[in-house]
Amino acid sequence: MIKKNKIAIIGLGHVGSAVLARAIACQLAPEIVCIDTDEKKAHGEALDASHSTPCTYLPGIKVYSGGFEECKDASIIICSGGPSIIPGEKLDRLILAERNVKVIGDIMAEVTRYTRDAIFIMITNPLDVTTYLAATKFDYPAGKLFGTGTTLETLRFKRILADHYNVDAKDVQGYMLGEHGNSAFPAWSMVNIGGIPVDQLDSYFETKKPLDKDKLAADVVQTAYDVLMSKGWTNTGIAMGACRLAKAVLFNEHCITPVSTPLQGEYGLTDVALSLPSLITENGVQKRLAIHLSDKELKNLHASADSIKAVLKASHL
Ligand code: LAC
Repeated sequence: MIKKNKIAIIGLGHVGSAVLARAIACQLAPEIVCIDTDEKKAHGEALDASHSTPCTYLPGIKVYSGGFEECKDASIIICSGGPSIIPGEKLDRLILAERNVKVIGDIMAEVTRYTRDAIFIMITNPLDVTTYLAATKFDYPAGKLFGTGTTLETLRFKRILADHYNVDAKDVQGYMLGEHGNSAFPAWSMVNIGGIPVDQLDSYFETKKPLDKDKLAADVVQTAYDVLMSKGWTNTGIAMGACRLAKAVLFNEHCITPVSTPLQGEYGLTDVALSLPSLITENGVQKRLAIHLSDKELKNLHASADSIKAVLKASHL
C-alpha cells in the first residue's frame, strides 16, 4: 500500500543531502526516510535535517533513516547513490558507468524486493545509462521510473539565456534535450522569451553582444564543470531540479519538462534512454512528447543516442 507523500532518499552524499534539505524547505512531504549503505551518514543527515523541521509550517514532518525496507510504502524514491566525477577526472559523466552500473544494479535489486509502485527518480550518473538499466532490467512499470535528465541542463539554459537578455529566467521557454551530459543540445526551434521567438529577441532587448547560439549551447554544458572545478561537486541545481520533479508527481501537476526514459521508437530510436519533453503526473512520465525537431536538432539527438548506446554496449546492457 502506498502511503501518500512519503519520500525515500537513497544516497546521502552531497546531492542526496541537498535533496533532503530542499524537500523539507519546499514542504514536499510529511515523511522522509534517508537510506544509505553508510548507515551512520544516513542517520547523521536525517538527525541534522530533523532539527530544521520545527521551522517549517508543515505540521509534524518526520525525517529518519532506515533500510531499503522503508521503500515498501514510499510514494517517491529519489536516488543519487554512487560516486560523481571529481576534479582531475575526465570531464565526462560517462566515465562513471563502470562503477555506477554495479551500484545501481545493487540498489535496484534491493528496492524491487519491496516496491515497484513508488515513482522512482534517478539522479546517479551517467544518468541515461543508469536510467536505462533501472527502467529496463528490473520489471519496473514503464513511466514510473525516470531520470532527471536534461531538466538540469534546461534550468542552466534558462539561467544563461535570461542573463544574456536581462529578463526573468521563468519567462524563458525551451528545452535542452538528449544526453544529460556533454552531447546535450538546445532545441532552438522551440525557444522563446515571453512568446517572442529566439530569432527576434535581439530586436526587443538590448544586449552587450548578439546571441551566439553555439557558444551558449556549449556554455550550458560547460557550466556544470565550472561548478565542479570551483566547489568540488554539484548539488544545489540538481537537488532543486529533482525536487521540482517530485513536486510535479506528488501534486499531480501535469507539468512538461525534459526527463530521461527509454525511448520506444521516437525519432527512430529504441534501446536507449534520453531526455525528451515529457508530461509528468502522479503516475510519473505519463507520455513523452516527440516534438518537431529541425534537421540539426535530429542529428544532435542521434549523436546523443550513439554516445549512450556505446556505453550501454560496453556495460553489456
Ligand atoms: C550535474 C550533475 C548532476 O550536471 O550531473 O550537475
